[in-house]
Amino acid sequence: AVQPKPLLVRLDSEIDEDPRKKKATVFFGTQTGTAEGFAKALAEEARSRYDKAVFRVVDLDDYATDDDHYEEKFKKETLCFFMLATYGDGEPTDNAARFFKWFTEQNEKDAWLQQLTYAVFGLGNRQYEHFNKIGKIVDEQLAEQGAKRLIPVGLGDDDQCIEDDFAAWRELLWPELDKILGDEDDSKKVSTPYTAAVPEYRVVVYDSTVVLEDKHLVMANGHGTNDIHHPCRANVAVQRELHTSESDRSCIHLEFDISGTGIVYETGDHVGVFAENCEETIEEAAKLLGQPLELIFSLHSDKEDGTPLGGSLAPPFHGQCTLRMALARHADLLSPPKKSALVALAAHASEPNEADRLRTLSSPAGKDEYSQWIVSSQRSLLEVMAEFPSAKPPLGVFFAAIVPHLQPRYYSISSSPRFSPSRIHVTCALVYGPSPTGRIHRGVCSTWMKRAVPLEKNPNCSWAPVFVRQSNFKLPTDSSVPVVMVGPGTGLAPFRGFLQERLALKESGAQLGPAILFFGCRNRAMDFIYEDELRSFVERGALSELVVAFSREGPKKEYVQHKMTEKAAYVWGLISAGGYLYVCGDAKGMARDVHRALHAMIQEQESVDSSTAESMVKKLQTEGRYLRDVW
Ligand code: 2AM
Repeated sequence: AVQPKPLLVRLDSEIDEDPRKKKATVFFGTQTGTAEGFAKALAEEARSRYDKAVFRVVDLDDYATDDDHYEEKFKKETLCFFMLATYGDGEPTDNAARFFKWFTEQNEKDAWLQQLTYAVFGLGNRQYEHFNKIGKIVDEQLAEQGAKRLIPVGLGDDDQCIEDDFAAWRELLWPELDKILGDEDDSKKVSTPYTAAVPEYRVVVYDSTVVLEDKHLVMANGHGTNDIHHPCRANVAVQRELHTSESDRSCIHLEFDISGTGIVYETGDHVGVFAENCEETIEEAAKLLGQPLELIFSLHSDKEDGTPLGGSLAPPFHGQCTLRMALARHADLLSPPKKSALVALAAHASEPNEADRLRTLSSPAGKDEYSQWIVSSQRSLLEVMAEFPSAKPPLGVFFAAIVPHLQPRYYSISSSPRFSPSRIHVTCALVYGPSPTGRIHRGVCSTWMKRAVPLEKNPNCSWAPVFVRQSNFKLPTDSSVPVVMVGPGTGLAPFRGFLQERLALKESGAQLGPAILFFGCRNRAMDFIYEDELRSFVERGALSELVVAFSREGPKKEYVQHKMTEKAAYVWGLISAGGYLYVCGDAKGMARDVHRALHAMIQEQESVDSSTAESMVKKLQTEGRYLRDVW
């Protein structure tokens, strides 16, 4: 039984309403739960340190129902902490998007937040261009709007050990908070260092004769809403390989049947997919836990008498579930474990040597070893558990403190509802290859898609809970405006949707402006995906020009940006005439290089210096005419 978790649990309801106490709020903007976990850890430690205040943890989306409400509530806040993740191309997380839009529009107001003291911790990844953009902006603008910054913004880097960054930031915070909330009477007391208890769920095990009700059937026909908390079950209608047999890689075309679910989507949106771990992974995990896969159990974040158990997030699923299903659908077994997971494993290792080593790895002294042995080696949780066989955590500890909840994976939808209203198409490259430790790493969702059985082959087909996430990656509303699309590899996905849409528009009599697509792949005989369709879009007038860069055919690499540069006068002509530029695909390499090529192109075509070109790029971005869908 598998409703994805609601993000916010009970904490708000328990607020101590003692009017003599100062109220502090810890906000989180989270996508995968890390910022939420940090918010809760911060509040918990703060509660144990300060009697003079109450700390509550709040999801930014739940805080206010509309903009006025945000304003009214923020005016009353006096002490706030923000744990804010930056996502995608420098965007806020879904649950912080409304807050972020509202808040950044307040900048005209003069020092209206003077009553507020705050601190921001950002969660990001240094590999990306907009490292911690959201945390930095909120931190700066709070100060500009008159609030008092307690300590500098923390810049958590998920590429290394974000838990360490958070711990370091917290250590800066306490001395400052002591000045506000510390007890003078306590000044002579020796403060004992805070050690967080390992969170744990209460586990109830059921008789194996219990009949499990399939909650997914309830999800089959949709709710009023369709979002991460309300996915719908969708069958896989079509699944096929897009690469030829000559390719040693794989790229899957998959179609989810959304008829009868109530799901609607627009061209350019994303679909979130809750996939399952593959059988090999599940079996290995059960073996390491020493539990049978058919065990039926449930997880609870309260005690039998209904009082809450401290510290943990909402359980990953509600109701009874077999261990097989829990591991398949809810456990992120292949990511490297967090330090807090090592601490929890150590607490349940019967072999003292193993417990010691796990503790060292998670301690400040083991920083380098953690970074080498876990992070750089991409050692999965299962690999780590296999190295410490005496560590057999109970299921309540495993799900609360060791294994993160398996997150949905997002794909740019590769169809248009004008063309395919009852199907969501996905174009997915298989993630498969050796990790630094020699383990074969299989991406969870792409492996699931690779193995998915479509309805056209078997009535007992594969299905997944799915939901649509809206994006602003949209064609211009006026179809006569020129468009330039850049999408190598699976970056082609949303453009296939765009072209389906343009074809439908044309057939219904609309005037189409010019459209050029830059696609890139290795070799025309292997991975020129959707070649026939693309040629047909050209023949039928939805696409004016298809330009393909083959990176592994000739003696030197040809990439999409090289092709763009060759056609600089034409491309810049389209854009400067009011056209739109779209880039989709890999953020760390391709999108960054295309961005540079654009900058160089403007400099040359307009005969301007670098900083003028830079501001022209910025202008395109603020006008919404340079859009990126990158990952
Ligand atoms: P390569 O793998 O031969 O280097 C789709 O993945 C295509 O994008 C491939 O042809 C790949 O080439 C190419 N690619 C890799 N890095 C790129 C980059 N930095 N800019 C543009 N294209 C890139």
